[in-house]
Amino acid sequence: MFDDRVLSGMRPTGALHLGHYHGVLKNWVNLQHEYQCLFFVADWHALTTHYDTPEVVEANVWDMLIDWLAAGVDPALATLFIQSRVPEHAELHLLMSMITPLGWLERVPTYKDQQEKLAEKDLSTYGFLGYPLLQSADILIYRANLVPVGEDQVPHIEFTREIARRFNHVYGREPGFQEKAEAAIKKLGSKRGKLYRELRTRYQEQGDEDALEAGHAVLDEAASLSMGDRERLFGYLEGGGKMILSEPQALLTDASRMPGLDGHKMSKSYNNTISLREDAKSVEKKVRTMPTDPARVRRTDPGDPEKCPVWQLHCVYTDDKTREWVQQGCRSAGIGCIECKQPVIDAIQKELEPIRERAQVYLDDPTLVRNIISDGNDRARKLAAETMRDVREAMGLDYS
Ligand code: TRP
Ligand code: SF4
Repeated sequence: MFDDRVLSGMRPTGALHLGHYHGVLKNWVNLQHEYQCLFFVADWHALTTHYDTPEVVEANVWDMLIDWLAAGVDPALATLFIQSRVPEHAELHLLMSMITPLGWLERVPTYKDQQEKLAEKDLSTYGFLGYPLLQSADILIYRANLVPVGEDQVPHIEFTREIARRFNHVYGREPGFQEKAEAAIKKLGSKRGKLYRELRTRYQEQGDEDALEAGHAVLDEAASLSMGDRERLFGYLEGGGKMILSEPQALLTDASRMPGLDGHKMSKSYNNTISLREDAKSVEKKVRTMPTDPARVRRTDPGDPEKCPVWQLHCVYTDDKTREWVQQGCRSAGIGCIECKQPVIDAIQKELEPIRERAQVYLDDPTLVRNIISDGNDRARKLAAETMRDVREAMGLDYS
């Protein structure tokens, strides 16, 4: 509708690894060239599960930011910030909690799933139940319309859409809405204004979807319109009230999963990761000691790449020719496993080298990251404040 705005967050609960790089960060790096992007450290979300080990969160905030920068997230293109440095998220969370039915939160699938998965932790807390609502606040406060997330987070985006809809329904009818909308139409100019009225009538009387679309186009083209008037006229067109919070969409990250050192998905909890800061020696050692097809006990035993986790890494990292060489050599016992692993080791080293180098710059001078984030926090706060002004006004909280 308006210029697309992308927002995503990550919880600072551990060192980032190649799974994060291939699954998330490479995607962010691409998006930052196409959209206005906001990426933030979700430290409050981390505390919902790590409330008794805050030192874990504290230790990972700066390291995670360094990893983002090292991976190529560019602070000149994207806004990077820390959630807790923008307290407006908490205010919106609180205000939205007034209209959030408990049942909606209890029904979000991650609620029960995570409680079962992390059974050793007591997650029957108010904060944890509210996790999806806090995430909604993160998104809605920037009026972000695209949210890059993995499959598991889709219910949270759907939840966010429902909360936005409910909020607009309950608070969207500001006093004097009609008068304000009529005044805004005048600002469109006589020709555009007349067209807008015709399209509005056609949509509202005949349900003509084309007219609705054309009406949106008229508003999109009216460059001089203020944000508030624009939203009013969108709402007026459709016959509803003012759209205070806008519904976001999930931007599904390619589901291809990054295999870990044991053939399962790469994940901290499986202890099968290569971290983004892994040094060259350790990368080599980890790949060299990876399990292979169990049938290849001796060098002379033929193997089957389909039964080998190393093959999965070839699929991520090497070219067709090398893979053909693996298929032939493995099945005929023409190559040994150490030989087979070398191109994977080389490719990972090549990928990590520039990342390690960039990370070093930030490790050598911590003020660099501090300044980037201080900048980003300021920018984020400014955007968040705009939405909060509208939200407070809609809820009757702008006492003056
Ligand atoms: N819940 C997300 C995760 O675990 C992290 C997150 C918090 C987030 N707030 C967000 C992601 C807002 C996208 C948008 O991955
Ligand atoms: Fe795996 Fe390669 Fe050894 Fe075959 S040769 S078992 S694919 S490591």
